Amino acid sequence: TTAGEPTDEIGNGGELHQRAGGDSPVMTTAHGAPVQDDNNSLRAGDRGPTLISDHHFREKIFHFDHERIPERVVHARGYGAHGVFEAYESLADITRASIFAEAGKQTETFVRFSTVAGNLGSFDLARDVRGFATKFYTDEGNWDLVGNNIPVFFIQDAVKFPDLVHSVKEEPDRGFPQAQSAHDTFWDFVSLMPEATHMTLWQMSDRAIPRSFRMMQGFGVHTFRFVNAAGESTFVKFHWTPVLGMQSVVWNEAVKINGADPDFHRRDLFDAIESGAFPEYELGIQVFDDAFADSFDFDVLDATKIIPEELVPVRPVGKMTLNRVVDNVFAEIEQVAFMTQNVPPGIDFSNDPLLQGRNFSYLDTQLKRLGSTNFSQLPVNAPRCPVAHFQRDGHMQTSTQPGRATYEPNSFTGADRGPRAAGAEGHVPFPGEVSGQTRRIRSASFADHYSQARQFWLSQTPVEQVHIIAAYAFELGKCEIPAIRQRMLANLRNVDDVLASGVADKLGMPLPPASEPAAPVIETEPSPALSILANAK
Ligand code: HEM
Repeated sequence: TTAGEPTDEIGNGGELHQRAGGDSPVMTTAHGAPVQDDNNSLRAGDRGPTLISDHHFREKIFHFDHERIPERVVHARGYGAHGVFEAYESLADITRASIFAEAGKQTETFVRFSTVAGNLGSFDLARDVRGFATKFYTDEGNWDLVGNNIPVFFIQDAVKFPDLVHSVKEEPDRGFPQAQSAHDTFWDFVSLMPEATHMTLWQMSDRAIPRSFRMMQGFGVHTFRFVNAAGESTFVKFHWTPVLGMQSVVWNEAVKINGADPDFHRRDLFDAIESGAFPEYELGIQVFDDAFADSFDFDVLDATKIIPEELVPVRPVGKMTLNRVVDNVFAEIEQVAFMTQNVPPGIDFSNDPLLQGRNFSYLDTQLKRLGSTNFSQLPVNAPRCPVAHFQRDGHMQTSTQPGRATYEPNSFTGADRGPRAAGAEGHVPFPGEVSGQTRRIRSASFADHYSQARQFWLSQTPVEQVHIIAAYAFELGKCEIPAIRQRMLANLRNVDDVLASGVADKLGMPLPPASEPAAPVIETEPSPALSILANAK
């Protein structure tokens, strides 16, 4: 046999027949003591009770009993790989971020793709948003671009995130459905939150059932800021585009694949990388200034809106290649801790209220999930640049940083002195203007919930539109409460009547009057799906 392949050895139960030697190193306890026997616990006499003095047995069971950690509260099911990002050109004129310093500059990355709603053991081809989270190990600290494969989000304000997630997770009194949006609570919530309409259109489109992680776009969603060495800032949106192009399956295929191979996406990513067909994604940016932001029809701080590429073209700035599978799924994919607040100098935040909330949430959740403030020392999370600070101790501390003083100012010298802040060389927050009174009222510039939903609908080919209608009808058809379906149809009438009546027809419901939009819907072309729907009858 070759290394790594199983032998055709025949077992003989509890006998100590496999011994250390040859390819097999000596088995030890976690503290390094060689183990005598891994098949039989220590017992008193021939058939007597098990003895508590069997430390190997106790340690083995103790560790097993503690193997599980909480799954992620969202995006629990995911898969990931290592890669490298290469910049196409210098972006020094707009950002001082070192990963964009010069053409050809390479930065190591780790990516985790995920579904949002399902549990850790759910199936891959759920109709769901996909997470596309990238950690760039830059030489000025980690940059976590924690994005999705859909460029908009359900809600405008992070205070609604727990509500959104509670609505889409399994219902508390019955524990189902999991991994899908086909239920009363989800549609109840989104039908009462018209700002979610745009995102549900994307979610009901073929994009929510991707063929492969290799054929999926990614988006930073929010408007971020680039800041250059002179302190000048522009707004920026981030886009990942798969070099293989975008592909989806159709719903029938998704249902079959889930039954036949619930691991379809993770297997596909693993197999592709192992066979040398490395997935590649181009990073693109949309860059715009305050003048554009002020003149745009929508608020650039509103995560339920996109900036159309016809207005601000996407400029390719680099490429990421995923070239290495993980050695250990738990250590790397499960323990990777993404946090939107991880940005290097040159990248900064906008005042998007969803992003601001995320910047609070991720640090908090990682502590809960990984259990120690020192989770940043895990190899997958550890920066690959020098790290120096006065944080110390805590659960699972592995740093043996020498030196005497862990405070400053101090008057020690040499290794005892410790690091000092870098001033202008450090991460200088962009000095954005803030004015006005403290308030909870949402800006009127966030009020238009339907115009971009309509633009998305009209951008779809007739076949894609038919898929969207079928998806709404399938998902809403699972709702037991008629008033929820009705409310959703009333909202869809503000997007397009062909869409609303197509869904109503399939549900066998009369079309209700349109709901009252909070802002006038910008009129665009009538729907081209009309003829194909007529032919389908
Ligand atoms: C996890 C994306 C909004 C809280 C994730 C992950 C992604 C993601 C990709 C999975 C990371 C991984 O693979 O480990 C997004 C996007 C959002 C969004 C694109 C909106 C544009 C929010 C908001 C909150 C939030 C508003 C809370 C206020 C969380 C939490 C996790 C998570 C708690 C679990 C993190 C973990 O345990 O590792 N999100 N999210 N997200 N997100 Fe978000």
